[in-house]
Amino acid sequence: MSTTKTSVVDEAPVTAVPTKQSFGSRLKAHFKKWWWVHVIVFIVVFLVILLPVIYVAYPKIAQSAVNDSTLQIKSMIISDPTPESFHLDQQQILGTDSSYHPKIYEFDAEVSLGGADGPFATVTVPEVKSKDGAEIHVVQKVDLTDVDAFGDFNVAVMLQEELDLRIKGKPGLKQGGLPKTHVTYDKTVTMKGLNKLKGFAITEFHIMFPPVNGIGMNGTVSIPNPTVMTIAMGNVTFDLSLDGHYLGETRLHDLVLKPGENIVPIVGTVDHGYVISFLTSKKNPYKDGILPFDIAGNKSVYAGKELSYYTKALRANTLHVKLDVVGALRDVNVTLPGF
Ligand SMILES: *[C@@H]1O[C@H](CO)[C@@H](O)[C@H](O)[C@H]1NC(C)=O
Ligand SMILES: *[C@@H]1O[C@H](CO)[C@@H](O)[C@H](O)[C@H]1NC(C)=O
Ligand SMILES: *[C@@H]1O[C@H](CO)[C@@H](O)[C@H](O)[C@H]1NC(C)=O
Ligand SMILES: *[C@@H]1O[C@H](CO)[C@@H](O)[C@H](O)[C@H]1NC(C)=O
Ligand SMILES: *[C@@H]1O[C@H](CO)[C@@H](O)[C@H](O)[C@H]1NC(C)=O
Repeated sequence: MSTTKTSVVDEAPVTAVPTKQSFGSRLKAHFKKWWWVHVIVFIVVFLVILLPVIYVAYPKIAQSAVNDSTLQIKSMIISDPTPESFHLDQQQILGTDSSYHPKIYEFDAEVSLGGADGPFATVTVPEVKSKDGAEIHVVQKVDLTDVDAFGDFNVAVMLQEELDLRIKGKPGLKQGGLPKTHVTYDKTVTMKGLNKLKGFAITEFHIMFPPVNGIGMNGTVSIPNPTVMTIAMGNVTFDLSLDGHYLGETRLHDLVLKPGENIVPIVGTVDHGYVISFLTSKKNPYKDGILPFDIAGNKSVYAGKELSYYTKALRANTLHVKLDVVGALRDVNVTLPGF
């Protein structure tokens, strides 16, 4: 059985080999003559497939990965403000569910209030390897390119519960051994605002009668800051008024608003005479001696220079407080007839 099989196997090559050899040698001859055509065809096919992958698909994939990524601002410290600049220390967290982890090169980003006409500054975003949870830490002096636009940003921070910060640039991006490509980075991040300083309260309040060095009242205020921002605002002044009548100026010294509750001292000049005659006049509607005051933002001064962008934000907001003036006067042994 096995011998028969062997003979069959042996037989087959005898007839097949000559045909194969002739085909093989013809092929050899063909390649010898036309090898350069094959090389060209191979290169063309290779490029036709590869070039669109590198120069069309890869940038598109990179761009859509950048589009799908998220940015979260963890903290933002604004210090050393001057009328045209400030120092920024900002921690941001990148979010992405992409399986690619390209390197995003350092780039200049224009920063603006969401919906605004133009940016207020350009910030240099450091190089980062794009992966979920990657931290981007920006520490630099920021020169304002548009002080008014930064004022508008601060007005939004002061008044709004939430606001948008837009960060836009054209970073270089590189994935593994692929060439560097450029993508458009255009992210709008929603941040919490100060929400009109909702929850502001005067927690302690004293009247100096007579005034001491021009100071007619002092106390402690509580300012809630629900944002992730720490803002050095310098010496902040407010106009104090009662029923539309200007009484004096109140000041917060070296105000640095930190995230959370801020308990800071306040001092002010007060027209005591007006307050006392208002209380004792027949038309005083506040028979319990608790008066409603308006505290309207006036300005911010840092190292002797007014910061127009904070002044703008302060003036956009007026706080309302009720203070037991009769009680505070009684504490300094001033008792008013009728109370
Ligand atoms: C990326 O987003 C921009 C709009 O922000 C859009 O115009 C563009 O088509 C998107 N690109 C990709 C590849 O998804
Ligand atoms: C207010 O001034 C009085 C008198 O000068 C002083 O005793 C008190 O400690 C001050 N209170 C605050 C909260 O600054
Ligand atoms: C700010 O305070 C100054 C006095 O210090 C006053 O003349 C001015 O009218 C105030 N401005 C505003 C907008 O409250
Ligand atoms: C605030 O004013 C005081 C004096 O009035 C000054 O010593 C201090 O340096 C000022 N603070 C800032 C941040 O400018
Ligand atoms: C108020 O009067 C009481 C007793 O007459 C005195 O002990 C106290 O020191 C006075 N307080 C002030 C602030 O003058």
